[in-house]
Amino acid sequence: MGLYGSPLGRGWWWVIYFKINMDRIIRIFPTPQALAESLALDLINKINEADISVNPFTIALSGGNTPKLLFSVLADKFARSVTWSNVHFLWVDERCVPPEDPESNFGMTNEVFLGRTDIPQKNIHRIRGEDDPGKEAERYSREINELTVQKNGLPFFDVILLGLGEDGHTASIFPGNEKLFVSDKICVTAVHPSTGQKRITITGGVINNSTEIIFMVTGKNKAGIVNNIIGRADNKKQFPASYVKPAEGKVLWYLDEEAAMLIKE
Ligand code: 6PG
Repeated sequence: MGLYGSPLGRGWWWVIYFKINMDRIIRIFPTPQALAESLALDLINKINEADISVNPFTIALSGGNTPKLLFSVLADKFARSVTWSNVHFLWVDERCVPPEDPESNFGMTNEVFLGRTDIPQKNIHRIRGEDDPGKEAERYSREINELTVQKNGLPFFDVILLGLGEDGHTASIFPGNEKLFVSDKICVTAVHPSTGQKRITITGGVINNSTEIIFMVTGKNKAGIVNNIIGRADNKKQFPASYVKPAEGKVLWYLDEEAAMLIKE
């Protein structure tokens, strides 16, 4: 376990991090704002340090509420800190709604972040939530294949940003769909178990093919599931997010104090 100062300068706030093992790092922040600022800086550094001489930097984003703060910090503080033409943005999943719908992951990200920077439109690869889900899952699989490097026969992303549902889902891989972690497909359709909302999601095989998987989780309503997945709870098998284990690479958990309150016990 280690204590060290914020990369934004000492004395502002402190981060506690656990290195559970070589491929899992947990960083705990006092507030969602502190988490978002640190993660934004880490992402910017990763992008600026990446070798893009051969392949562009690819990052797959999640939706939902948690990443909104990160996206606004990226736009507010780092819009001019990166040569965005070197970065391609894709999505981990999307709700099957048009981009102007308040439920749209692309719509939210574009409003809070992408649309407030000079990222070239051709670098933004959204899932067309308004189209036929089955056809769009196939089309988006082709777009991912054309853009990304292939590794182990699957697309490779430099970074995958994930969220975590209270039911242990991640991306749109819901409890009962754990088989998507052994699927050779790239994208599939899914249905949200409680809302019935249609979704398009990348599969677990693609997620675990990345070298850097970042979970961003905040709020006390997530403390129980976080403890189930990375704490000492023993019934882990129930939750899709437990299957996020990159073959080569690491999982970084960015948690706020509330989400981490049970694992620290
Ligand atoms: C989505 C996401 C999903 C999300 C979790 C957590 O489209 O909803 O990609 O996997 O990350 O549901 O959502 P919150 O951040 O809203 O709690």
